[in-house]
Amino acid sequence: MYKNYENVTILDHPLIKHKISMLRDKNTGTNEFRKLVEEIAMLMGYEALRDLPVEEVEIETPIEKCMTPVIAGRKLAIVPILRAGLGMVSGILALTPTAKVGHIGLCRNEETHEPEEYYCKLPTPIEERTIVVTDPMLATGGSAVDAVRQIKAHGGKNIKFMSIIAAPEGIERLMEAHPDIQLYVGQLDRCLNENAYICPGLGDAGDRIFGTK
Ligand code: PRP
Ligand code: URA
Repeated sequence: MYKNYENVTILDHPLIKHKISMLRDKNTGTNEFRKLVEEIAMLMGYEALRDLPVEEVEIETPIEKCMTPVIAGRKLAIVPILRAGLGMVSGILALTPTAKVGHIGLCRNEETHEPEEYYCKLPTPIEERTIVVTDPMLATGGSAVDAVRQIKAHGGKNIKFMSIIAAPEGIERLMEAHPDIQLYVGQLDRCLNENAYICPGLGDAGDRIFGTK
C-alpha cells in the first residue's frame, strides 16, 4: 500500500507518460533510450525547478524600460548518481546551462542489493546551492538514501531528487530517511521483484543508456 508523502510529487503529464512508455519497451535501442531519458529529465526539471527564486531587473524593450524577473543567483548544482543518473544531466542543463555538476558513484551489490560507494565530488559551496540529484530508477531506495546522506555530510541542505520510475518501497525508504527533501517521480510502478528490479520498470537503466550488459 503506497503511503502519500507531502514532499513527493508524482508528475502526471501526458508527455512524460508517453515518453516513459517508450522507455519501457524492450525494443527501444540505446540511441532512442538516451534521447528519451534526456527529454523526460527536461520535462521533469521544468516542474522541479518551479520554485527557483527570481529577482526583478531592468530591461529596455524596443518600446520602453521595464522591471522584469530573472532567475536570482547562480547557485544550482546537478548531482547525478553514476552511472544512470548521468543520462538526465543534459536535459536539466538545457534549462539551466550555468549549473555546476557534481558526481556520486554508487553501484548496487548484486546479492545484497545495497549500494557500494566509489566516488563523490560536489561543487562548492554546496551548502548555498539548490541541489538536484538525478537517478532514473528508485528501486529499494538504498542508493538514493546513501547519495542524499553523502550530500548532507558535505553540507548540502536544499535537496531535490528526480527519479523517472520509482517503486513504492523506494519512495518510502527515501522519505523516511530524508523527510526534508523534495522528491519528483515520473511514474510510480507496482513493486520490486525478487532481484530488486522495478516491475514493470524498464530493466537496467545504466545498461540501456550506455549499451552495456
Ligand atoms: C541502479 C540505478 C540506481 C540504483 C537503484 O544503478 O541507476 O542508482 O540501481 O536501485 P536501489 O534503489 O535499489 O538502490 P546501479 O547500481 O545498477 O548502477 P549503474 O547505474 O552503474 O548501472
Ligand atoms: N536499477 C535499475 O536500473 N533498474 C531497476 O529496476 C532497479 C535498479
